[in-house]
Amino acid sequence: MAHQYPALSAEQKQELQEIAQQIVSPGKGILAADESVGSMAKRLNQIGVENTEENRRLYRQLLFSADDRINSCIGGVIFFHETMYQSADDGTSFVKMIKDKGILVGIKVDKGVVPLAGTNGETTTQGLDGLSERCAQYKKDGADFAKWRCVLKISETTPSQLAIMENANVLARYASICQQNGIVPIVEPEILPDGDHDLKRSQYVTEKVLAAVYKALSDHHVYLEGTLLKPNMVTPGHACPIKYSPEEIAMATVTALRRNVPPAVSGVTFLSGGQSEEEASINLNAINKCPLGRPWPLTFSYGRALQASALNTWRGQRDNEAAATEEFVKRAEVNSLASLGKYEASGDGSGVAAQSLYVANHAY
Ligand code: 13P
Repeated sequence: MAHQYPALSAEQKQELQEIAQQIVSPGKGILAADESVGSMAKRLNQIGVENTEENRRLYRQLLFSADDRINSCIGGVIFFHETMYQSADDGTSFVKMIKDKGILVGIKVDKGVVPLAGTNGETTTQGLDGLSERCAQYKKDGADFAKWRCVLKISETTPSQLAIMENANVLARYASICQQNGIVPIVEPEILPDGDHDLKRSQYVTEKVLAAVYKALSDHHVYLEGTLLKPNMVTPGHACPIKYSPEEIAMATVTALRRNVPPAVSGVTFLSGGQSEEEASINLNAINKCPLGRPWPLTFSYGRALQASALNTWRGQRDNEAAATEEFVKRAEVNSLASLGKYEASGDGSGVAAQSLYVANHAY
């Protein structure tokens, strides 16, 4: 086999690795606040707030105006395009607000899922056209990392080999383009929790998907130290009748990762995937107490599980903004502890934090 022609200079590699490591430095994870306009419609609808640009701005403002307590809990915030160019009431851009806290700015660069014809409802993710130019512009505008979400489904007939290969390849192509532009790619092959499959099947599918992803990243000469993986935790299907303990979920998750994710990857930042806020924190904590070697930081990149209580407290009212921000800070602190395996759950199984955030066939 011919040698590899260099894809990145030593300086480019160093920059990418430093960005990736900074995002997941001890006790830190990611706030995924990159809901598209369509996803925001669903979130705001739940609390009876109209999905206008101004309401989306007000909501993001209450998250980003959290005080310095979040600086040690959040290493990165993922923005949606619209949010990148919005500002707070006093005119400070959201990008500046986040960067001033020492938190890195990320940007969702995929353009959503589209059907894969001839499959049982499977999808690929689009957005490669013009991606290099968009990455270059986002980098100039303050972004240091990006997210691209692919979706796989578990059923009797899925995921198909086609869906596994296509999604692995498009993630690798995206990752390569990001790195050429000094942007750390978050590689997200999300396996949805929809279905009644058990933990074992979830683990099996997760392993096959991750194996394909890392083969494709290698084929595309992606520099793994300058990447982060955003996987699902290995959980039973949402409709599975068997209940599993957080320790069982942690063991299945860490086993699947150990078998398929090279230690060179700078960090693993789990999505919450419809788990309740508390569940997502308890499972992350168990993962960080799992008695198996874990060569990467294992932390959070939560959307719903960092925001549900804040949204519910806000309800579109100015008077509720401070209390809503406080709810977000609370979840950030809890998940920071969980990323270190130091979270002691209060055992309070009531309230919003314990409510399932599951949405069938979830889009982002
Ligand atoms: P959830 O944590 O709500 O699953 O979302 C995280 C995310 O960014 C999915 O792409």
